[in-house]
Amino acid sequence: MRKPFVAGNWKMNKTISQGVELAKNLAEKRPSNVDADIAVIPPFLAIPSVARALEGTPIRVGAQDVYWEESGAFTGEISCGMLRDAGCSFALVGHSERRHVLGETDEIVRKKLDALLAADMDVILCVGETLEEREADQTNSRLDTQVKSGLQGVSETLLSRVTVAYEPVWAIGTGRTATEEQAQQAHAFIRGLLTEMFGQQKAQAIRIQYGGSVKPSNAKGLLSQPDVDGALVGGAALDADSFTGIIEGARR
Ligand code: 13P
Repeated sequence: MRKPFVAGNWKMNKTISQGVELAKNLAEKRPSNVDADIAVIPPFLAIPSVARALEGTPIRVGAQDVYWEESGAFTGEISCGMLRDAGCSFALVGHSERRHVLGETDEIVRKKLDALLAADMDVILCVGETLEEREADQTNSRLDTQVKSGLQGVSETLLSRVTVAYEPVWAIGTGRTATEEQAQQAHAFIRGLLTEMFGQQKAQAIRIQYGGSVKPSNAKGLLSQPDVDGALVGGAALDADSFTGIIEGARR
């Protein structure tokens, strides 16, 4: 049985003090009797303070992005070692906003993923089709490319550090959530790709989160799908009560 993993991606929201306040509220309100991994993913600047505020709680802290070199002349970038030092245990790679707004390619995404795994950190690999791709019946081929270029050849011993997040681009920040059936269908397809690459046993152990307009009102339905193992939450993670409501949806 895969333990649900619910992570709140704050995107470019929250100052340091706002982030600390949200983290403290969350630590206080978090339902302690739901058996799920919980994480927050603040903007870089808030990470050290949020990590300190969450010390001694089971809530993990992650980063929204990372650069693959360890140090050097890479103005504006942040390395795995810096993130770990700041209190992060994982990072997102390939978030749709980085792919589509900031021009990140599958090749760049892979370099980031490899760097995180080499640094003994966990990674959430984000994949998902655009509306045009869905309407042109290209959802599966897009997922095939993103999942394979992201994970093909990753050492099987490192796979336990990997989570995949299925985030259909048309559902992100739009209020238009994938239906439970659409989510399950895409997750099952991704599980099939993982099985092809790593065999059934490994593939069954990898968690696949759903992201895209997850709210307290739809979390339970989505999270009860057999291949939906958690949620990557944007807007609804910016408030402790709504994020807590989503965590409740992970109750089994
Ligand atoms: P929303 O929940 O705001 O749609 O964002 C989803 C997302 O992109 C999380 O990474």
